[in-house]
Amino acid sequence: MKDIYRIAIDGPSGAGKSTIAKAVAKALNIDYIDTGAMYRAVGYKMDKKGIPFEECEALDAMLESTDIDFVGGDVILDGEVVNALIRTPEVSMLASQCSQLAPVRTKLVEIQRGMGQRKSVIMDGRDIGTNVLKDAEYKIFLTASAEERANRRFKELQEKGENQTYEEVLEDIKQRDHNDMTRELNPLRKADDAIEVDTTGMGIDEVVAAVLDIVNK
Ligand code: DC
Repeated sequence: MKDIYRIAIDGPSGAGKSTIAKAVAKALNIDYIDTGAMYRAVGYKMDKKGIPFEECEALDAMLESTDIDFVGGDVILDGEVVNALIRTPEVSMLASQCSQLAPVRTKLVEIQRGMGQRKSVIMDGRDIGTNVLKDAEYKIFLTASAEERANRRFKELQEKGENQTYEEVLEDIKQRDHNDMTRELNPLRKADDAIEVDTTGMGIDEVVAAVLDIVNK
């Protein structure tokens, strides 16, 4: 294995990317970068500042003064820990919408590439293997059926006391799949050289073992 290596994990919403990436990062003692959290942070900030999606100048100015970092597992937006604030269903949708905007993608991809240059990382998202880290040493495409992904997300939201129904969560997942796969800029798709892991019916430990197996081979 090289001294510095990158693992790219892509896949649709709710496929378990962040849970698996976090566990793999811990097992390999490398950094985990959650690029979805970065789009969430931008969507959250646009909403908080009341910046409309079509207002290019205001958006450019906002992005110019936006700082996103990860410190010890926390997502820091302009110096503030926003972990819980960016995990609501509303921010999920805002993230999906703002991720279609070219200035947002340009800014975040630049930061992500910087993060993936200096040290070994595992980075998850939608366009990591196809765009952000095209030359990543390992590429994994994590999937699961829409129903299984909705079920997992539904349970998570219930534990947090959110009151979305299963049907609403499934509809949300399908809408975000559609947004992510059909958008013009860097849509979600499996890189030609990525290995697909379908996690439907698999437990977390099993998926982590499958990913570590790919990396250790
Ligand atoms: O992984 P997530 O659900 O936290 O991502 C939130 C949104 O951000 C998702 O709907 C698509 C977008 N996203 C993206 O366009 N590119 C990435 N690399 C990561 C996320």
